Amino acid sequence: MDKLVISGGRPGRGEITISGSKNAALPIMAASLLTEEGLRLRNVPDLADIRSMKSLLAQHGVVIEPVVSDGSEDAGAFDFTVARITSTTAPYDIVRKMRASVLVLGPLLAREGQASVSLPGGCAIGTRPIDLHLTGFERLGAKIELRDGYVYAAAPNGLTGSEIVFPSISVGATENLMMAASLAAGETQLINAAREPEVVDLAHCLKAMGAEIEGAGTDRIRIRGKARLHGGEHRIIPDRIEAGTYAMAAAITDGELELLDARASDLLFVIETLESCGVSVTPTNRGLHVKRANGRLCATDIETQEFPGFPTDLQAQFMALMTTAEGVSTIEERIFENRFMHVPELARMGAQIITEGACATVTGCEKLRGAPVMATDLRASVSLVLAGLVADGQTELNRVYHLDRGYERLEEKLGACGAEIERVPA
Ligand code: UD1
Repeated sequence: MDKLVISGGRPGRGEITISGSKNAALPIMAASLLTEEGLRLRNVPDLADIRSMKSLLAQHGVVIEPVVSDGSEDAGAFDFTVARITSTTAPYDIVRKMRASVLVLGPLLAREGQASVSLPGGCAIGTRPIDLHLTGFERLGAKIELRDGYVYAAAPNGLTGSEIVFPSISVGATENLMMAASLAAGETQLINAAREPEVVDLAHCLKAMGAEIEGAGTDRIRIRGKARLHGGEHRIIPDRIEAGTYAMAAAITDGELELLDARASDLLFVIETLESCGVSVTPTNRGLHVKRANGRLCATDIETQEFPGFPTDLQAQFMALMTTAEGVSTIEERIFENRFMHVPELARMGAQIITEGACATVTGCEKLRGAPVMATDLRASVSLVLAGLVADGQTELNRVYHLDRGYERLEEKLGACGAEIERVPA
């Protein structure tokens, strides 16, 4: 397995272009299953999770081709075409690698009247069930059975629109149900729906394919089902989590970064939080400009929440930032159980963190020290990179494959801004 070796202490200065959003691209790629016509997607990031979704879609019969103009391939642009679904099963060996595979369930069920998906099983950041997805499909008239580690969903006569009230908010369930409802007979209302920008982006793509959707971005989404959807074209939004991560890289190293394509509207609460820590985040005509406001960072408390609150996917990075801030901050994780795996690793670098249940108390320290550390999940890994960028000496990050799931060319992007960061192949 590859590892990253980081020599800390250099301020990040320069520009970083933010890639297309992984979490927007995954459901939107799954939406290509809803039509026999082609879906052209732009700004698709090159990541391990995207490659897993491509292999999953390919075995369902999706033909994926890079878009070529003037004789060369357009970076990040692909045509997804599925004239005929060749399999309605999402097998264990792909689902176990990537939980978002469950997003093919809604489109396959809606188009083919049946689908089976391996249960995602345990995962590093908690049990993460899919009950909200399944109860939703039942409300649309599907029969659900759990057998031999698989979910079998069937609606031989098609799905019928209905009112679905989610007992708690789920991004994935909102997306899965929105896709299924686009091909259901009649109207569906999703109540207590997720409001994340990725949900809104999926709605934009579905609308480009002829779906009738209102209210995406609010907690009540109305979908009028269509007998069929057509092909279309859509550009994936920039990755707000990648942007937030690099904003924190500028802050922790006392550097200055312009994050090209980053959208302030997707990060309002994060920006507000960073500002209260002494970081200035200013919109420019190309993205966001980030640097410390007056030379020091001060501690601030956060709790993670659904959008528009502080995203759980930036919690680990924010904790790394707080390890070097002046004062004591409390960080409460309210979305996932067991999402503090970065804590013992940060502690190996000298961070002072005490956890109690879902709450971590971080006392800022003068200096972190480089150490060999181990990545345990995607966001935990990148928090260790942030810590490594500012630590004295060398940090060796093992199990880099977690990072490759969600950060495109990370060492190249940070390296171009002055970081000393090197990938050592296995
Ligand atoms: C998505 C993101 C992930 C992010 C998360 C929360 C993708 C591919 N992944 O994950 O990066 O951290 O949103 O912003 O977009 N839950 C249930 N039953 C369900 C579904 C979810 O109990 O059927 C629980 C989960 O265990 C979790 C909470 O609801 O505690 C939120 O999960 P959810 O919003 O569904 O996250 P994902 O869509 O899996």
